[in-house]
Amino acid sequence: MAVQDVYQRALRNLRISVTDRCNLRCAYCMPEEEYVWLPREQILHFEEVSALADVFMDLGVDKIRLTGGEPLLRRDLPELIRLLAAKPRLRDLALTTNGVLLGEQARSLATAGLHRVTVSLDTLRPDRFTALTRRANHAQVLEGIAALAPAGFRGTKLDTVVMRGVNEDELADLIEYGQTVPAEVRFIEYMDVGGATRWSMDKVVSRVEMLEALGRRYGRIEPVVEESTAPADRYALADGTVFGIISSTTEPFCASCDRSRLTADGMWYLCLYAQHGIDLREPLRRGASADELKTLIAGAWGRRADRGAELRLRLRDRTPLVQIGRLREDPHLEMHTRGG
Ligand code: GTP
Ligand code: 5AD
Ligand code: SF4
Repeated sequence: MAVQDVYQRALRNLRISVTDRCNLRCAYCMPEEEYVWLPREQILHFEEVSALADVFMDLGVDKIRLTGGEPLLRRDLPELIRLLAAKPRLRDLALTTNGVLLGEQARSLATAGLHRVTVSLDTLRPDRFTALTRRANHAQVLEGIAALAPAGFRGTKLDTVVMRGVNEDELADLIEYGQTVPAEVRFIEYMDVGGATRWSMDKVVSRVEMLEALGRRYGRIEPVVEESTAPADRYALADGTVFGIISSTTEPFCASCDRSRLTADGMWYLCLYAQHGIDLREPLRRGASADELKTLIAGAWGRRADRGAELRLRLRDRTPLVQIGRLREDPHLEMHTRGG
């Protein structure tokens, strides 16, 4: 039985960041020139991650997603995947990547036992990609996406952060590209979290606006009715094509949120918007028993009352959550450290 927080939300879904480093500089996530990285000696070894995963699974976690920064930058990642995939209680083992290194790694990830991959893809236009990410890797990302199906992956998803004046005119093109992969495209509202220091409400394209634009193009769009704690609401076009919208900014899903995040250096965050985390590396390296860790984690989850995105919604003059000075002092507040 999964432990529950004060709003009866179960602990089911753990996002494990394996590195805070990234090979792109997406404007909505890493807009600065310089970053303070987590010290190498503090990064958890694979055996440590695996031991923590066992404790989390004792408490109800059955979905794990590996994230970054860019997770494929972590050396020997398939080794960690092998350790996790061997755990019989894990129902779902997924990975979120920017796709740059996927072409060369897709096969070894599949062989290691990874179930599913989600790739971030914000634009189909190379020039826009370069402007948005400050790196010229667009072709490599498309090659990476194309390598997924031949490697045996099913259930591929593409995540698109929609920003006004940047890519809001590409929604239909992305859906149609998704059909060819095949992959389900999810449009994400631009969020005011972590590194989004250039965020402003006028750059957010809301779910309502996205549906209006797609409705003009495709006609009737039907919501897919389903029971789920996933952040995306899904919709179907008349031809059966399904896409998702993650409206974390204008219509947050805090009420059903079953996820938490472990950073690469073992800090555990109970909300994407949380200002403080719980240090699991210290007890782990001190030699705490699995039972001690279980008590620590279960106790913290039992007290969890976070509804970060809902609280942000009530603000009148909404500006980015954290200013650059504080992000430099505590890189754990960054979205790229928390794993998106
Ligand atoms: P599945 O539904 O299992 O495929 O995974 P997912 O949708 O949780 O994973 P993914 O990494 O693709 O998440 C998509 C995006 O949803 C993230 O990049 C965030 O923008 C947003 N998101 C994920 N988790 C949270 C959360 O806890 N709170 C909020 N507000 N947004 C989140
Ligand atoms: N708003 C929305 N999504 C974001 N991500 C990172 N920063 C933001 C933001 N400000 C998400 C994107 C990206 C993933 C790694 O993190 O979905 O694809
Ligand atoms: Fe949950 Fe926090 Fe995300 Fe809201 S913002 S959905 S409470 S993790």
